[in-house]
Amino acid sequence: MITVRAMQPEDVALVAALEEECFSMPWPEEAVALELSNPLSCWLVAYDGQEFAGYVGSQAVLDEADMMNLAVKPGYRRRGIAGALVGALAEKLKEKGVRCLTLEVRASNESAIALYEKLGFCQVGRRPRYYQKPREDALILRKEWSV
Ligand SMILES: CC(C)(COP(=O)(O)OP(=O)(O)OC[C@H]1O[C@@H](n2cnc3c(N)ncnc32)[C@H](O)[C@@H]1OP(=O)(O)O)[C@@H](O)C(=O)NCCC(=O)NCCS
Repeated sequence: MITVRAMQPEDVALVAALEEECFSMPWPEEAVALELSNPLSCWLVAYDGQEFAGYVGSQAVLDEADMMNLAVKPGYRRRGIAGALVGALAEKLKEKGVRCLTLEVRASNESAIALYEKLGFCQVGRRPRYYQKPREDALILRKEWSV
């Protein structure tokens, strides 16, 4: 059974290892650990029983939040875990009075773009050459809700 809960200190190394596995410019473990004490941050982790399966990370200022990180372990993909993580994050943010969630995604990341479209995000902009390694545009996606 998949469970989603707030990130704890014992999750940090697993989150950082998955960052490293999935992204060319991963957040280092120390940066992930600092998020635990950042009052603006909300990070959630997903477990399948005892097995770590994925995470999502966000920061909110007033009523707007940015989703900075999302990844699911390769062996756990296409089982609805990313959808569950983003859904749980949106619920937590709503409780804090946040009314919109914005993210950047590589223009070539078809699986993530398909996920975000399914979850109701809309493209609101494009940042040319935003990413490095490799250099690539970012699409800016946003989802708004009433609180
Ligand atoms: C993108 C990612 C987080 C999706 O995680 P996931 O747990 O597999 O996603 P879900 O199972 O919740 O998928 C929900 C929906 O998203 C879409 N989707 C997800 N992966 C897809 C893929 N590879 N191809 C097409 N559509 C996809 C589908 O509509 C899917 O619904 P369906 O399975 O009923 O067809 C995962 O592939 C991942 O970790 N990728 C590497 C890291 C990354 O790119 N993160 C995003 C950075 S912006």
